[in-house]
Amino acid sequence: MTFSISELLAQHSTDKFDLYEQYLNNQLVRVLKTIGYDRHYKKAVGQYLYDQDGTEYLDLLSGFGVFAIGRNHPTVISALKETLTLELPNLVQLDVSVLSGLLGREILKTTPDNLNKIFFCNSGTEAVEAAIKFARYTTKREKIVFCDHGYHGLTMGALSLVGDEIFREGFGPLLPGCISVPFNDLNALEKALSGKDVAAFIVEPVQGKGVNIPDDNYLPEVERLCKKYGTLFVADEVQTGIGRTGKFWAIDHWNVQPDMICMAKALSGGFVPVGAVAMTQKIMDTVYNRMDRAVVHGSTFAKNNMAMAAGLATLHVMEAEKLVENSAKIGTDIINSLNALSGKYEFLKEARGKGMMIAIEFQSPKSLTLKAAWAMLEAANKGLFCQMITIPLFKEHHILTQVAGHGMNVVKLLPPLNLTTKDRDHIVSAFDKAIADTHQIPGSIWDLGKNLAGHALKGKRGG
Ligand SMILES: Cc1ncc(COP(=O)(O)O)c(C=O)c1O
Repeated sequence: MTFSISELLAQHSTDKFDLYEQYLNNQLVRVLKTIGYDRHYKKAVGQYLYDQDGTEYLDLLSGFGVFAIGRNHPTVISALKETLTLELPNLVQLDVSVLSGLLGREILKTTPDNLNKIFFCNSGTEAVEAAIKFARYTTKREKIVFCDHGYHGLTMGALSLVGDEIFREGFGPLLPGCISVPFNDLNALEKALSGKDVAAFIVEPVQGKGVNIPDDNYLPEVERLCKKYGTLFVADEVQTGIGRTGKFWAIDHWNVQPDMICMAKALSGGFVPVGAVAMTQKIMDTVYNRMDRAVVHGSTFAKNNMAMAAGLATLHVMEAEKLVENSAKIGTDIINSLNALSGKYEFLKEARGKGMMIAIEFQSPKSLTLKAAWAMLEAANKGLFCQMITIPLFKEHHILTQVAGHGMNVVKLLPPLNLTTKDRDHIVSAFDKAIADTHQIPGSIWDLGKNLAGHALKGKRGG
């Protein structure tokens, strides 16, 4: 009997929701069915997904940002196939691998000059865990400062740096010594650091939850304050890195030099889990300071050949296809075109972002009928209005988007960086139509709104 993945997929072509409900997290299936996202995707190429009827969807979620070079990129596929067929000695452990050295070198070509060492791991949250441990060990201090509304991952250390209660509830006690300050608030940061007992300040250069962009002097001042008080400055670029914001690193918008950069998501083209921390030589040499500490922090699968090969191929594609430049150009076009609609629509507050990390924020309108309808949704569940945009975008315009976080009226776009001008025009006209429809009361979109509000209220009552 031969083993075949294609046969398995053919035999179970419509079983995925049943299997998932039975063996994995059935609440996720409930959510997908409730909002009508229960599709059977069969194929994915570049920025597009295709369902079993051959319908094309423009994917502006890109697996939460991992498919920056697009899905199933042929260059990465061929690098992975080649790596497999070479029968390389993978993960020998009492050895080092050439591919990890090469990927480390390529990444460090892109980072600020003060960073010249790399640590590899398997995910964004693991990169943050490493940064926490490395900062504590290097500074001999315990405290870590993070920002309100920041997101750094869901393992216990990283979770201790996530302010959002929905993620923390019931999982405590978390790491001691983690203190939050408002994002973009230098006075609060200075106050938190001034006791000279903080190991690290960790910050996303552009916050993922809500796509919050700091003032231009914020990160340069963060760097200065961290130096002044002996705190390590950690840039969490797990989401913003590798071209997402229209520069290779988001910190490049402000020319700052953090002591560590955490990265993951886009680094391996979406094929293999990977994470990394770029750091100063001093941090690396302090943590790994003796031979008996050579493996004091690490992970069994880190630096595996598939992740390293995918990383090398992905960085090659980023450069060959000029994806950073495309992210800046098409992303800015989308933001400007959506902002141009704001005069037309009371619900639309603004579009903001950098490159292809884009937020579209909605607001309570002035006219009475619209205001009452908005209030009905907010009372049922804060941020529910966004579903009245994302659901029609998906069902009518075949565009996959997400809300930017819990309890906020912000839709977020995190597309593959290879969007074309045709995709851009499709996005803008679809938003125009979807937003226009929300201004029609009564109308079918508000029937959906009432339905969603009903579900939300039932959920609150534990249904
Ligand atoms: C800024 C940031 N840090 C860390 C993480 C955690 O990464 P992962 O989900 O790979 O653990 C994320 C994930 O969204 C992120 O956006």
